[in-house]
Amino acid sequence: MSVVVIEGAQWGDEGKGKITDFLASKSDIVVRFQGGNNAGHTICFNNKKFALRSLPSGIFNESIVNVIADGVVLNPFMLVDEINEVKEGGITNFNLLISNRCHLIMPYHLDLDGAYESLLSDKKIGTTKKGIGPCYIDKAARRGIRAGDLLEPKFLKEKLETTLKVKNLELRSLGLKEYDPIDLYNKLMKVAELLKEHICDTNYYLNKAIKDNKNILFEGAQGMMLDIDRGTYPYVTSSSPSSNYVPQGSGIPPKAIDEVVAICKAYTTRVGEGPFPTELFNELGDKIREKGHEYGTVTHRARRVGYLDLVVLRRNLEMSGATEIALTLFDVLRNIKDLKICYAYKLDGKIIDYIPASLDEYSRCEPVYKDFEPFDFKDDTKTFEELPIEAKNYIKYIEDFTGVKVKILSIGSDREQTILRY
Ligand code: GDP
Ligand code: IMO
Ligand code: MG
Repeated sequence: MSVVVIEGAQWGDEGKGKITDFLASKSDIVVRFQGGNNAGHTICFNNKKFALRSLPSGIFNESIVNVIADGVVLNPFMLVDEINEVKEGGITNFNLLISNRCHLIMPYHLDLDGAYESLLSDKKIGTTKKGIGPCYIDKAARRGIRAGDLLEPKFLKEKLETTLKVKNLELRSLGLKEYDPIDLYNKLMKVAELLKEHICDTNYYLNKAIKDNKNILFEGAQGMMLDIDRGTYPYVTSSSPSSNYVPQGSGIPPKAIDEVVAICKAYTTRVGEGPFPTELFNELGDKIREKGHEYGTVTHRARRVGYLDLVVLRRNLEMSGATEIALTLFDVLRNIKDLKICYAYKLDGKIIDYIPASLDEYSRCEPVYKDFEPFDFKDDTKTFEELPIEAKNYIKYIEDFTGVKVKILSIGSDREQTILRY
């Protein structure tokens, strides 16, 4: 049996969905443990393309149990839509368990997300406006609505009345529409009808699965530079996307984790605001954006594009105990002439190899680069050995610098376009 964590090592959109789907064939269970439908995980197989937001990426395999665990914030209305989309795509048989402890994103969380962003104006975070932050706020303030509440109508009604006293006060003060507890209760009861068969104690389920030697894959959303504690705060999301949070977000013991696969794009992208030292503001940036189709899965925003940053990568791999790297979108770097990798920063004339906590300092960091020779390889490359020496050198530099092996190399969006090493 094995417990494997998939985590984003950069600013999100590293290809976690593709690699989760790829590794899921060897798993019994796939688990989302944090974040919500701010995630957009793209999966391509048999000429079909799916963009999952809250559903775990094991959903296409009917023998896999997919778990939405405690640490996730779940929009029940959007989940119903997503389930319908997957069904319309021909996936009718799937197994889904939803933790009774996971918090629900309510319609007012979306309103508040938008309002907070407007108030911040040019200091806005650039959120996905899916209500993620406001839902985690209510969780911490102990007035959240949980999935399990959908199974206890009387309790849910009382809870909505209490919670909405506070929320309506806030909504009113921001000039937003208020919510009627009965109306919201009725809407929730409708989705409860569809979701209740999936809601259960997933802590209990997962710990039993570990005792039963099941293969479990934990699928992170976002990336470690968006971690609320260690990312570029406040330009972060409101959860912790790394392996460090798996025990908390799912209720399993830390010692149960066997492997941590850090998903790393062969270059860097970021959506939303905040510092990004290796960002490219030139034609090369545009070229990589077009070649990599770097437009947001959730918000369709053009992603900011930059060179690979090993200061970011090494720190995040160390912090999360990564045991291997899955290097993705490597094909996008074919025939790039001015190829570079950042291995340090220059801050106020000094060379540093860490990420300053101060946003001001981080914004002033200038990348220090090593140049790489351009390379090309065929679409249907099947083995690492077939790659030209220049491509191998790029990968070897990443391995030597981070001390972590690139065991999976992704050279296309399809499941099949994946090279396994070692
Ligand atoms: P996630 O949020 O980490 O799951 O990543 P996204 O799905 O948001 O973004 C990754 C994008 O790259 C998606 O459009 C994938 O289909 C695509 N993709 C994944 N791996 C590769 C790859 O190796 N090569 C290319 N060209 N595209 C890839
Ligand atoms: P996946 O799982 C990339 C970014 C937003 C914004 C910040 C806060 O597809 O990699 P939020 O809505 O979470 O409050 O927004 O985080 N962000 C992501 N960027 N990929 C994601 O998910 C993201 N989820 C949130 O753009 O900068
Ligand atoms: Mg994404």
